[in-house]
Amino acid sequence: MVSKSVILRDFKKNDAEALSDFFLTLGPRTLFFWNRFGTRFDPAHARKVAHAQAAIPVKQEKGFVACAGNKIVGYCYLRFFPDKPQKRGTASLGMVVSDRHQNRGIGRRMMKIMIDYCRRKKMQKIWLATYTDNERTRPFYESFGFIPEGVFLFDEFFKARPRHVLSMARFLGPSVQKKASRLVRRYLLGAK
Ligand SMILES: CC(C)(COP(=O)(O)OP(=O)(O)OC[C@H]1O[C@@H](n2cnc3c(N)ncnc32)[C@H](O)[C@@H]1OP(=O)(O)O)[C@@H](O)C(=O)NCCC(=O)NCCS
Repeated sequence: MVSKSVILRDFKKNDAEALSDFFLTLGPRTLFFWNRFGTRFDPAHARKVAHAQAAIPVKQEKGFVACAGNKIVGYCYLRFFPDKPQKRGTASLGMVVSDRHQNRGIGRRMMKIMIDYCRRKKMQKIWLATYTDNERTRPFYESFGFIPEGVFLFDEFFKARPRHVLSMARFLGPSVQKKASRLVRRYLLGAK
C-alpha cells in the first residue's frame, strides 16, 4: 500500500532535530542492514550525527526526507566525490525507512527522487552497497536497473559473524548500462 500522506522533500538544515528523533526510532533489525552511523543510536549520538548531516554542503551530500506530518519517517542521501574530479559523474546512494513505515512504498518513492536528481545533475553512475544477507533489497534495487558489479567478501564482522557486501550500480546512459552489463558478464562471470 502506498502511503500518500507521506511527503518527500529535500533535507534541510533545520531538520536536524527531527532527523535525530528519526534515528532513535530505528530498531535493531533495521540497523543491522543500515548502519552507516553504527548499529545503535542513543540520544547523544543521534543528535551529533543529525547535526553533522545537516551541516554537510550539498556538493558533498544531498539528502531527502520522507515526512508524515512533522515527523521524519524516511531518510535517503546521495554522496558525491567533490575532491576527485575523475568521479564527478558518480554518486553513492543510501536509504532507510523507519520500521513502522517500511513496506508502504516510501522506499520506491525515495529511489525515484534520487534517480531523478541524478539525471537532472547529469550524473553517470549511481552506486550502492548492500549486505548479501539483506535478501529483499536486491530485487528492489534490480527493479530500478541496478546491476551487481562486485562483492566484497568477508568485509565486515558482527561479533564473529562475517558479512559480505554487494556493490550495485545503475548507469544513467542506456548505452553505458548495456556495456556495463556486458563487462560484468566478462569480468565477473568469465564470459567471452
Ligand atoms: C530497504 C528499504 C529502504 C525499502 O524501503 P520501503 O519503504 O520499505 O520499501 P517499499 O515499500 O517502497 O518497497 C520496496 C521494496 O523494498 C523491499 N522491502 C520492504 N521492506 C523491507 C525491509 N524491511 N528490508 C529490506 N527490504 C524491504 C520489498 O521487497 C519491496 O519490494 P516490492 O515492492 O517488490 O515488494 C526499507 O525497507 C529499509 O529501510 N529497510 C531496512 C534498512 C535497509 O535495508 N536499508 C537499505 C540498506 S542497503
